[in-house]
Amino acid sequence: MEQPLHRQCHRGHPAHRRRRHGARLDPGAPAAPRHLPGVSAVAESDPKFISIEGIARRYPAPGGGATTIFENLWLQVPRGAFVCIIGHSGCGKTSVLNILAGLEQPSDGVVVVDGQAISGPSLDRAVIFQGHALLPWRSVLGNVAYAVSSRWRKASRAEVEERAKRCIDLVGLRGSEHKKPAELSGGMRQRVGIARALSIEPKIMLMDEPFSALDALTRGTLQDEVRRICTSTGQTVVMITHDVDEAIYLADKIVLMTNGPEAMVAEVVENPLPAARARDTIHREPDYYTVRNHLVDFLVARSRTFRDEKPQDYDPRHPPQVRLGAAPEPPPANTIPFPALAKGRE
Ligand SMILES: Nc1ncnc2c1ncn2[C@@H]1O[C@H](COP(=O)(O)OP(=O)(O)OP(=O)(O)O)[C@@H](O)[C@H]1O
Ligand SMILES: [Mg+2]
Repeated sequence: MEQPLHRQCHRGHPAHRRRRHGARLDPGAPAAPRHLPGVSAVAESDPKFISIEGIARRYPAPGGGATTIFENLWLQVPRGAFVCIIGHSGCGKTSVLNILAGLEQPSDGVVVVDGQAISGPSLDRAVIFQGHALLPWRSVLGNVAYAVSSRWRKASRAEVEERAKRCIDLVGLRGSEHKKPAELSGGMRQRVGIARALSIEPKIMLMDEPFSALDALTRGTLQDEVRRICTSTGQTVVMITHDVDEAIYLADKIVLMTNGPEAMVAEVVENPLPAARARDTIHREPDYYTVRNHLVDFLVARSRTFRDEKPQDYDPRHPPQVRLGAAPEPPPANTIPFPALAKGRE
């Protein structure tokens, strides 16, 4: 479920809060690249934009004591990066995302975003969960406009609607502005959730398996849209997925988490595929199978064994950054690339 906006409150530094919320919308004025959906932007160089510093999550164990889901977890996400986290069920991915969102407190450690330790939910961090938390009595426009007016409380109704409509356009829902959520398909509802998240210009988009409940074709279309929007606006994204191909298509960096309990970040894989990759041809990229096989091998075997077999110089503060070589690797005989699978269903 997407975090309802009325539950998102700002608890950041007051000066920072004034800067973000005091701004009035000016639809006529030229916007900065990050602030105008669809306009190219160069990611600013800020390698520690999100800095996860030694966080832990522990729960009381049934027989007393505590179960450690993960501890001493460190990770940095540069500004403008699209990072996917993959790992087996139960390793703690959603817990990490909830801590990033400020919805859960870590048992230890801290998360610093843009130089500020986070202490609770904020409109700076939009969360899109698997489902959606649309207000059923409001139209598509009403849902998105509600988010915009929460962000810019002094904006006029016309300004709010103008921005809301631009975001609705961006996710391909022009013409459906006046429909209620009940009149929309699952994919359309998820688009409204994305439009709503984008409309508040969050510093970070946090997505927990946002496409997993959708059929393959809708999922592919929405992946394309999210990739187009995020690359063109320089949006910083942290997304959880179980889908290796989705991670390769969308992510700049792919974080591999070992199995829990006491899960670890085994490595951060730099995606070597060109930024201009396309869904239909991605499987022809020279490094595609190298990356795919590396990720699948991790999920099949190393996610289980990494703790015992990790390199001697493994340092949780600096998880290994893996850059896979350009050596072409032939696809395994039993692997059908996902675009081919998707085409077969058309
Ligand atoms: N409130 C809670 N009390 C006790 N244990 C919990 C609680 N919430 C989560 N856990 C445990 O923490 C672990 C990590 O949960 P989390 O939801 O973060 O995993 P995940 O990697 O997102 O899994 P999935 O891929 O299935 O969504 C799980 O073993 C889960 O049982
Ligand atoms: Mg989860």
